[in-house]
Amino acid sequence: MCGIFGYIGKKNPLKACLKGLELLEYRGYDSSGIAGIVAGKIESCKEIGKLSCLKEKLTLKALEVAIGHTRWATHGKVTNQNAHPQFDSKQSIALVHNGIIENFDEIRTRLEKNGIVFSSETDTEVITQLISSNYEGNLADAVHRSLPFLKGHFAIALIHKDHPDLIIAAARECPLSIGTDDKCTESIVSSDPNAFLGKAFNITFLRNDEIAKIQKGKIEVFDSNFKLILKKTERLESASKAPTKEGFKHFMLKEIFEQPTTIQKAFLGRIEEQQVRFEELKHELKNVKSVLFIGCGTSAHAGAIGSLFLEDLAHIPAHYEISSEARFRVIPPETLVVAMSQSGETADTLSAIREIRAKGIKVLGICNVKNSTLTREADHCIFLKAGPEMSVCSTKAFTSQITVLYLLAQYLAQNKNLDELKQIPAHVQKVLDQAPLIQKIAQKYCHYSNFFFMGRRYMYPTCMEAALKLKEISYVNANGYPAGEIKHGPIALIDTNFPVIAFCSNKQTEDKILSNLQELKARGAPILALAPEHLTSVTKIADDVIWLPQSSDLLSPFASTIAGQLLAYYIALSRGCDIDQPRNLAKSVTVE
Ligand code: M6R
Repeated sequence: MCGIFGYIGKKNPLKACLKGLELLEYRGYDSSGIAGIVAGKIESCKEIGKLSCLKEKLTLKALEVAIGHTRWATHGKVTNQNAHPQFDSKQSIALVHNGIIENFDEIRTRLEKNGIVFSSETDTEVITQLISSNYEGNLADAVHRSLPFLKGHFAIALIHKDHPDLIIAAARECPLSIGTDDKCTESIVSSDPNAFLGKAFNITFLRNDEIAKIQKGKIEVFDSNFKLILKKTERLESASKAPTKEGFKHFMLKEIFEQPTTIQKAFLGRIEEQQVRFEELKHELKNVKSVLFIGCGTSAHAGAIGSLFLEDLAHIPAHYEISSEARFRVIPPETLVVAMSQSGETADTLSAIREIRAKGIKVLGICNVKNSTLTREADHCIFLKAGPEMSVCSTKAFTSQITVLYLLAQYLAQNKNLDELKQIPAHVQKVLDQAPLIQKIAQKYCHYSNFFFMGRRYMYPTCMEAALKLKEISYVNANGYPAGEIKHGPIALIDTNFPVIAFCSNKQTEDKILSNLQELKARGAPILALAPEHLTSVTKIADDVIWLPQSSDLLSPFASTIAGQLLAYYIALSRGCDIDQPRNLAKSVTVE
């Protein structure tokens, strides 16, 4: 994970770098740091905690060039010493890094034998010391001679005290964008092009051990053989203003309430004459014999629902797999792999698609963030159009994902019956209107530390998603389970202190889930049911009920998901948790 940023140009580099880091903080907030050059010396400031902690401590003033970092800790605890930038022992190089160096220990031992003294536990310091040991006056050349020794993946940016007019950047399998403005007065290097300070820039992406020499308004790129190459640039129009909470207490709540609109955005313009069309598809998807959805976390849960849509609507065998496991699976030819990712930067998903595409299998990406790595590497990409999702806890992206997947299944089935989908935003609004009631129920359940979430068929991935929301932002143990499976072991955990949240909206399996609830009630579990309006018999079993609008089984995940999101939000609120930036997490997980 981690965000890296560097600035050289007419603006104050320190201020520009802080602004860039604000836009990258979603990539990690364990610590942050900035380094620059002042009168032939490296000056720096690092602080554990969020960027606001660094800002409070910052005494640096006019830097000639600046690089900065927001950290999600991998190697070494969250300490100032392990925060980036990292330095060589001569204090001549400062370096920021995203990624993991797998052979860092081996290189460190070798350098230590040569008398180099390390001062952190990080793999990043190993890169810095290695480059320093190869430095003979030309920084780009030192980087070029160091990269072949590194195993793993990385994006790096570094400065040297003797080169105040230069940032060197390099990348292998981690996103790194570089760019200049039209008047060639400034240059930026950033983990994410969306952090390019809101101006129009001409950008390009580094890959495959490419190295960039970045100067004010001028960039030269070298390939892995250190040959100067011409890279195609893309136009990045000025980014719109960073989203605000618009009066909501948290981005998560704002994003939950946006869903009637974001769901519409995902289908509007894609239904013409009762038929689904995706303008993004370069050509028709033909001969699809099976579909494999891959993704992580919330995106994997969307894929799980997608696999049910595909089978039920298009009668195409479909499965889902967690991205980090997908590369080990045998994938039959003529399988369409659908890679789900809100950010388009999740390392597990990107590594999986690289291996899958190398086997000649086509990958369709479904993504929210334009210009992200997934959008560049997949064969086709369909966009969610949900707008920036700021809260680490994904909400609106999920409902946009399942909207797009429903359309994809209808598209592959060549169906014309799309009217029910249009009612979904109203259903979602009906659940949102119950927020005060859900908050009351949350206050009743917020003291428990363990929960079972259970459901059948469409409600199974839906309940897994709701359980993920709760554990992610409330730090309580919540497991989503297929309701039929609880009696095969997990029921041993049930007592009066172990509530069950039952997702009852799958009509086809209604009777069975009611029986499962009886079994749990008989063992004393407090029961909260999320049930469709017609299922009045549930009141005889459940202690509390959140009533949901009725829909077909296919579309039942929408209303249930919104109720699950609100429940998780209000439980986290009652427990006083840091809702938008939960501990140990980052919005975009760029390490495997
Ligand atoms: O950007 P992606 O959709 O690829 O991210 C995948 C997961 O890291 C993400 O969904 C994560 O599980 C969320 N924080 C869940 O709310």
